[in-house]
Amino acid sequence: MLFIGSICAIITSIFMYLKHRDNWSVAIKRFIIKVKYFILGFKEVINDVMNARYNKTDSSPQSGRIAIVTGGSRGIGVDVVKMLLQLDMEVIIACRTPVAGEQTILKIRESGITTGQAKVYKLDNSSLESVKQFAAEIKKDYKQIHILINNAGVMFCPYQETIDGFEQQWAVNYLSHFLLTALLLPLLKTGGLPEKTSRIVNVSSCAQLLGKINFSDINNKNKFITEEAYAQSKLAQEISTKTLQNLFKEKEYNVQVYSVHPGIVFTDLFENTYIWRFQFFFKRVLKTPKRGATSIVYAAVNKAIEKCGGIYISNCRSSPGHPDALNSSIQKQLLELSLKQVQLKNILQYT
Ligand SMILES: NC(=O)c1ccc[n+]([C@@H]2O[C@H](COP(=O)([O-])OP(=O)(O)OC[C@H]3O[C@@H](n4cnc5c(N)ncnc54)[C@H](OP(=O)(O)O)[C@@H]3O)[C@@H](O)[C@H]2O)c1
Repeated sequence: MLFIGSICAIITSIFMYLKHRDNWSVAIKRFIIKVKYFILGFKEVINDVMNARYNKTDSSPQSGRIAIVTGGSRGIGVDVVKMLLQLDMEVIIACRTPVAGEQTILKIRESGITTGQAKVYKLDNSSLESVKQFAAEIKKDYKQIHILINNAGVMFCPYQETIDGFEQQWAVNYLSHFLLTALLLPLLKTGGLPEKTSRIVNVSSCAQLLGKINFSDINNKNKFITEEAYAQSKLAQEISTKTLQNLFKEKEYNVQVYSVHPGIVFTDLFENTYIWRFQFFFKRVLKTPKRGATSIVYAAVNKAIEKCGGIYISNCRSSPGHPDALNSSIQKQLLELSLKQVQLKNILQYT
């Protein structure tokens, strides 16, 4: 498998060199990161198999609690929505195509799940204006929220800037969720009690372990390598998890923040990778969306981690994240940059 991966990485690097006419140093960098991804992916698949027995969560009802799931109309998000409905929660699917969200609810109901309530609101994570509109709608309709699952994501897209001028993966995976969290914090604060806190779950990835925040060129425009940009966005989610958790603890808010790697899950996320070309094989080897959703739901509701905010969860167990996430000067630098990018003075501005 390692051999096949290396061959794929070499062929892709040559192809990328010819396609983009990169200089050789970029082609070599691309090659190295592809090999690193391959080794990490291989390790994580083994990890998922070895730890499958831990990948389960509490199923006590959560009646009366309200959750928001971004990207809830497709992929792992659908199974997260399903599981939360089974726990009798009110679930808000935040998605960019509301019709798709409605169809998801229909399919879930047709599958026999009758508990909970599901609603759809429009949210396009590639636009900060859409995030603001979504938050305004939610604030109009709800006084409190108990769980915010920042799940929507894109991976390995070609270089593209959002309407706000940010690289797509940075904006969709990280920055829009950062703003959403800040805007919904008052509702999460209201929903949290000392004995049962509100929770923010950032769906990060093991890819964070390969990440580095490129503060001097956050869009990575100069010599763009999409794998680096994805890892950077996932590391930013991890760093932000720790920063916000520390802040909420200091302020004594009843809000906990967790980050999760759902596992290596076979979804459309891989459509720009060789995994997609060998679907027949990988569909059988990788986690199903339901098994991927389990770790996310664990972070959102499990009692055993009630006061353990700040942890990075993989297969329903705390796992070591990237060392940079614990570095207070990187935390501070990222917080300042993010506030500037979303034009906020303070993350607690709305509380
Ligand atoms: N699959 C894995 O192995 C894996 C591993 C580690 C981490 N993750 C993370 O898990 C999360 C879910 O991934 P997945 O595997 O379920 O991927 P997926 O099947 O491709 O689903 C991605 C979801 O994100 C939504 N989305 C994409 N761009 C959006 C935008 N601009 N605005 C709003 N929503 C948007 C999609 O909605 P549309 O239907 O509108 O496109 C879809 O609901 C991601 O954050 C991913 O990074 C996945």
